[in-house]
Amino acid sequence: MRRILLAALVLGLSACATQAPKQAGGPVDTTPLSLIPMPAQLTRTPGHFRIDAKTPIVVAPGDTAAKRVAGQLQGWIRLARGFAPPIVEGKPGGGISLVTQSTVKGHEAYALDVDAKGVRIAANDETGLFYGAVTYWQLLTDPASQNGVPGVHIVDAPRFAWRGLMLDSSRHFQSVHDIEHLIDQMAMHKLNTFHWHLTDDQGWRLKIDKYPKLTEVGSCRKAVGSDTAGGDSYCGFYTKDDAKQIVAYAAERHITVVPEIEMPGHAQAAVAAYPQYGTGKPKKVSSDWGVNTALFNTDDATFVFLQDVLDEVMEIFPSSYIHVGGDEAAKDEWERSKAVQARMKTLGIDDEEKMQGWFIARIGDYLDKHGRRLIGWDEILDGKVPASATVMSWRGTEGAIKAANAGHDVVLAPSPVLYLDRVQSSLPDEPPGRPSDETLKTLYDFDPMVPGIGADKAEHVLGAEATLFTEHMHDWYRIQHATFPRMAAFAERTWSSRADWNGFLARLPVQMARYRSAGIIPADSAFAVAISVAPAGKDGARVTLSSQTGYGTVRYTTDGTTPTPQSEAYTAPFDVSLPTTVKANTFEGGFGLAGVREEAIDAKSLLHRTSVQLDTCTDDLPLRIEAPEMVDGVRPIYKADIMNTCWIWKSVPLDGRYGATISVDRLPYNYALWKAAKNVVSRKSRSRAGEIEIHQDTCDGPKLSTIDLSKAKDGRATLQGVLPKREGTHDLCFVITGKPGPKMWVIADIQLR
Ligand code: ACM
Repeated sequence: MRRILLAALVLGLSACATQAPKQAGGPVDTTPLSLIPMPAQLTRTPGHFRIDAKTPIVVAPGDTAAKRVAGQLQGWIRLARGFAPPIVEGKPGGGISLVTQSTVKGHEAYALDVDAKGVRIAANDETGLFYGAVTYWQLLTDPASQNGVPGVHIVDAPRFAWRGLMLDSSRHFQSVHDIEHLIDQMAMHKLNTFHWHLTDDQGWRLKIDKYPKLTEVGSCRKAVGSDTAGGDSYCGFYTKDDAKQIVAYAAERHITVVPEIEMPGHAQAAVAAYPQYGTGKPKKVSSDWGVNTALFNTDDATFVFLQDVLDEVMEIFPSSYIHVGGDEAAKDEWERSKAVQARMKTLGIDDEEKMQGWFIARIGDYLDKHGRRLIGWDEILDGKVPASATVMSWRGTEGAIKAANAGHDVVLAPSPVLYLDRVQSSLPDEPPGRPSDETLKTLYDFDPMVPGIGADKAEHVLGAEATLFTEHMHDWYRIQHATFPRMAAFAERTWSSRADWNGFLARLPVQMARYRSAGIIPADSAFAVAISVAPAGKDGARVTLSSQTGYGTVRYTTDGTTPTPQSEAYTAPFDVSLPTTVKANTFEGGFGLAGVREEAIDAKSLLHRTSVQLDTCTDDLPLRIEAPEMVDGVRPIYKADIMNTCWIWKSVPLDGRYGATISVDRLPYNYALWKAAKNVVSRKSRSRAGEIEIHQDTCDGPKLSTIDLSKAKDGRATLQGVLPKREGTHDLCFVITGKPGPKMWVIADIQLR
């Protein structure tokens, strides 16, 4: 947490202040408070308490737990206010008291009272004190506290015990420092489980002393797009000290680190390092996203290997849960392997899914003997796993319903709603990721207590987890964008018993300021203005403005100036003459809530589309893909369905159009599609390079133009096509002939002439 820009916040939200009603003990300040997650019970009480450099943080003599929390709170106050209140041992009262008290019931629960005399945070354990301190820090960094923190009586406890975030460090690797930054934020959102996805087809990221090749070989893959033999590598792993540092850092913040070691699938990096534990041909660490088919084999020696690995994992990670993956284990290799088939026969197991059940159960027994519990993705249910196994439901919520009703503990991590690699908006500047849009609201609306779980089984729902699979997130900026402010929505739904979307939205601007003070750039998709433009009349355009949440007031300019709180408020679509630049933002309480979005509109722009503004013809596997090569200093982002390179431009006025200038790019086709590979659309091409065909109305409609891709010479290029005379408004379909792989042509943008 960096210093909060309190002055700005105070100005920004003073408009929310309402008249204070009189109450016994003085007036109660009812200025709205921006607490996230919302506490279970909150009552406003009279008085305010203002701290200064002399205000003590008081702990009982010898209460080491309270003293640790006092040190943490002191650090947060220093960052927010620039001074560090002294920590003193003594009788509670007169400052900020942290009190261990058995009458506050429940692990993680706390009570927080603020009045004119001071602050009292009480809990029966250190975690409760910590969360009470987090809530107090939120009050302190709330502009509603400009005259001191207003009086409150809060009694709070979480709804769910498992409030998790999963980070995939295999597809892309993060520094220890960035992970600690993420953990800081988890703590300030009262999340308590950091699920660390450490191994996968694309990289084994944890040093294991007994098997050094796991990281010597398994932590390096060919960088995506580096297709030459001596091309760049992408490498990284965590030493044991790194991992222990993260475990300790998280523990100080009351977060358990649950490591994930994937088996029997997603094992390609491991079997690239130790082929004897795999089946089939030797393999390289994969650079392909998707379902790679490398599996561990089922020999006893492989279990010895996995158990040795787990021994070292258990030595680093004290968590009672160990995640063993179990997802997407395509069984082709087991079906083909004589040894696996022989083993199945000996065991009397007649199908490979049941064999996976046996595999996972055997590992579960091993963990059990070591006092640990197995958790795995919901495929572990496809085989028979012991009731003690906990199921993490990711293929929607079905797995959770089935598992909980069968008596397993479950954690809800359903795709797509809790998958933070899903894009958040259709804004042109939305980073790469997987559609369709999972907005802040879709996430907020997800209730982990899903219908279908019997009331008597509800106790099996441990909680929920948001996942950060990082295929499309190669750096910390991308992770921040995917995570914040969605973490706030997720935290509220896993901690608070009540959902209140409108209340959450009203509390969000302060939370966004807290992020920025912590050096985080949150996604502004919830508030950003989408500018949509259509031709109007002979020389004009109709502009429609919208924001995802509709919160606040959209304001805009058409004179090139930056919108301010005094700019024209948007009420309905409006017409502009050409050329005009429209700039817009959403405002609340005198402040812009998002980055300004702008659109330069002229006769040419009306006839121009980038691929992200087009529709894909199909919705099989559409992605927003970042080009590995820069263009003018940035890596462009394209929208393409990797199963079908085909785009639609709806309602194009074709009168007077005689040509199309199309920019294309050539991207690596690094997708392991397994059985879906047969569904990739292939179109007859006239030349080896292929062509772009433009069809009228539908993709099977009259062909208007064919543009030879051989002129593009295997890279980004701008090509010209001729259009025949046509009248009226038509949809245009742009298809690329041939079949994608090992590279793929994509349309970057189209300018009609
Ligand atoms: C998963 O997304 N394969 C768990």
